[in-house]
Amino acid sequence: MTHRKDNPTDIDILADLVEPLLDWYDENKRDLPWRGTRDPYRVWLSEIMLQQTRVEAVRSYYLRFIQALPDVFALANCDDDKLFKLWEGLGYYSRARNLKKAAAEVVETFGGRFPDTRDELLTLAGIGDYTAGAIASIAFERPEAAVDGNVLRVLGRVLADATPIDDLPYRKRLTKALSAVYPSGRCGDFTQSFMDLGSAVCLPGAPHCKRCPLSHLCRAYKTDTVESYPVRKQKRPRKIERLTVLALRNEGALAVEKRGESGLLAGLWQLPNKIGHLTEGQVSNWLKSCDMQAQAAFTVTDARHVFTHVEWHMRVYTVSVDRRGGAFVWADEARMKNEISLPTAFRRCLL
Ligand code: ADE
Repeated sequence: MTHRKDNPTDIDILADLVEPLLDWYDENKRDLPWRGTRDPYRVWLSEIMLQQTRVEAVRSYYLRFIQALPDVFALANCDDDKLFKLWEGLGYYSRARNLKKAAAEVVETFGGRFPDTRDELLTLAGIGDYTAGAIASIAFERPEAAVDGNVLRVLGRVLADATPIDDLPYRKRLTKALSAVYPSGRCGDFTQSFMDLGSAVCLPGAPHCKRCPLSHLCRAYKTDTVESYPVRKQKRPRKIERLTVLALRNEGALAVEKRGESGLLAGLWQLPNKIGHLTEGQVSNWLKSCDMQAQAAFTVTDARHVFTHVEWHMRVYTVSVDRRGGAFVWADEARMKNEISLPTAFRRCLL
């Protein structure tokens, strides 16, 4: 395997991809609710939702969000509880926070009109190089590549390039080289053709090379090394945190509280919890310190949640208590359903 940097033949291959990829896209593109619009608000929202979430999961969230907050002004002015409720279950809540922040920036700095260049888009909260390229190409037909995991996988294979794809200068070089071959008038389609090829054909695990429109150009395919690409740097293992979580119920109400304003899941709702795996005796003392007592035996279960850099290994005590003690908010079922957005990490603790 070789490290290629600015090898001019790579650029030639990139130009050769355009036609077969667009032809394939015309035949095979997915029907997705954010396609068929050039409204930058909608393109932006879909791209943010799709950053860490599967297309199928995003569909219904996207439609509900657009209905509740149909434009950048509505988003800039909505209250946080409503926003987080719309986001509940999607995870990575900083995306939602940044959406609202960026909406306010679009309203205040750009008079409500979305900026249309990569550089201006990059000034908005939560918009990095990939998203700026996606919005510029899809909403504004600019020749700006959007290099995400799909593009890195497809091009890693086509070029048989052993440079680790998590290398930032490499991504920048690739973004520049790919932007240079963007086809005028079909920039948005070209961006999205990589996404669809990456999800239907050039799969991470077992790619369907036999029906790939790029196989005749693909160096990895020709050398039977497709599954060796793309190459990644060794990842640091995630930190494991043990937590004890309480699912406390009293007459149909559940005890919840707000998290602190910084760190993981900042400012969101949570179930009462402490670091470490506590024993039943320690949990009883904790309840006592909140002026409560268990009314029946505890149910103890385990739950896990994986974040980007941390894994929570939770021991969950489900307890029916005699009174609504402690400094918790006791929310009934309707309030949990309609108002309080409990992150998935905690929702999965509820039996
Ligand atoms: N993944 C990220 N952006 C996407 C898009 N616009 N269409 C399909 N999948 C995507």
